[in-house]
Amino acid sequence: MNDGFKAVRVTDNVWWVGAVDWGVRDFHGYKTSRGTTYNAYLVTAETPVLVDTVKKPFFGEMMSRVASVIEPGKIRCIVSNHSEMDHSGALPEAIAAIRPEKVFASEMGRKALGEHFHGLGDVTAVREGEKVSLGNMSLAFLETKMVHWPDSMVSYLDADKLLFSQDGFGMHLASGERFADELPGHVLDYEAAKYYANILLPLSGLVVKVIEKIKASGLEIGVIAPDHGPIWRKEPLAIVEKYAAWATQKPLNKTVIAYDTMWGSTELMAMALGDGAAAGGSRVRLFPLKSSHRSDVAAELLDAGALVVGSPTINNGLFPTVADMMAYLKGLKRQGLAGAAFGSYGWSGEAVKHLEETLAAMNVEKAAESVRSKYVPDADTLARCRALGETVAAKLKGLPEAVR
Ligand code: FEO
Repeated sequence: MNDGFKAVRVTDNVWWVGAVDWGVRDFHGYKTSRGTTYNAYLVTAETPVLVDTVKKPFFGEMMSRVASVIEPGKIRCIVSNHSEMDHSGALPEAIAAIRPEKVFASEMGRKALGEHFHGLGDVTAVREGEKVSLGNMSLAFLETKMVHWPDSMVSYLDADKLLFSQDGFGMHLASGERFADELPGHVLDYEAAKYYANILLPLSGLVVKVIEKIKASGLEIGVIAPDHGPIWRKEPLAIVEKYAAWATQKPLNKTVIAYDTMWGSTELMAMALGDGAAAGGSRVRLFPLKSSHRSDVAAELLDAGALVVGSPTINNGLFPTVADMMAYLKGLKRQGLAGAAFGSYGWSGEAVKHLEETLAAMNVEKAAESVRSKYVPDADTLARCRALGETVAAKLKGLPEAVR
């Protein structure tokens, strides 16, 4: 066990005993520019419980924090709200060290844990709405299937009105502060939106249902304790309302232009297009993909109304960075966008056609005719790019302004 880590008190009966990963920059394809945390929680009820664990390399840090409150062997139960390895990686070692009487998960979680950690031992499946007594308080479980894994569930501690929300309402943000009210609002707004855009967006329909279910449960929620990032203890329902708004995927007056370039021609087109869209009254964000990450484009798209993509043609197809981004965005299924394509070419010029097909497959409404340029764009081609930007901006006119 590593020494020197302390737990942080969250409420009367709950302590944060997680880990801060300041250095992680890739989270299965999501660029975690500010690192992340893996939050685990210790409930000091008459029957002490550990809720979730951490990524495997952080086992020692978690146990050190636990030991700063109670002797770890006194923990009687471990709850696994979600079996993804950033929360269950340290579970086998935690079970070996603590020897709990029970490990609880959803039925799908029980199966998933068995398939991740062969020979893990008994896991007790809890049913939707089931309550487990901890002596002087109880823990209730609500399934949140496919938000965002089949096994996902959340837990509610009645004594402290605290919802352990697993990945939901979290963000990838390493910090010394444990509570959202201790951090700058603009950082929280951006990282929470980026997290939603990159992880929960394709599940928006289910997110709405989960929010309705939690509201219908009548549970009074005073604190939301997610598995990543800060804990919401002041106005915790504000982040729930943000999720409800993001899930509607309403288009806003912002144009995202993402492109790559081989010899600078497609970049000239992108700049003319962006200038036209800005002049037309749209907030514009340009992403040169040589220096921009797909997950940052996804974050901006969450409150955009248009996606315009540019690619030179290489080997009869898309430039690799553009192909990568389009495959990623297609999977995230952002709905309600308008869009267009552009790009330069030397002799065959198929890239724009590929972009048009992918945009159509993503349900992006064609806002304007594509613009292609043979080799270097001349003044007339750049004027057409500018006009394309103006047309896209006109399409978004009247939509609510984007706040980011
Ligand atoms: Fe943070 Fe889905 O794991």
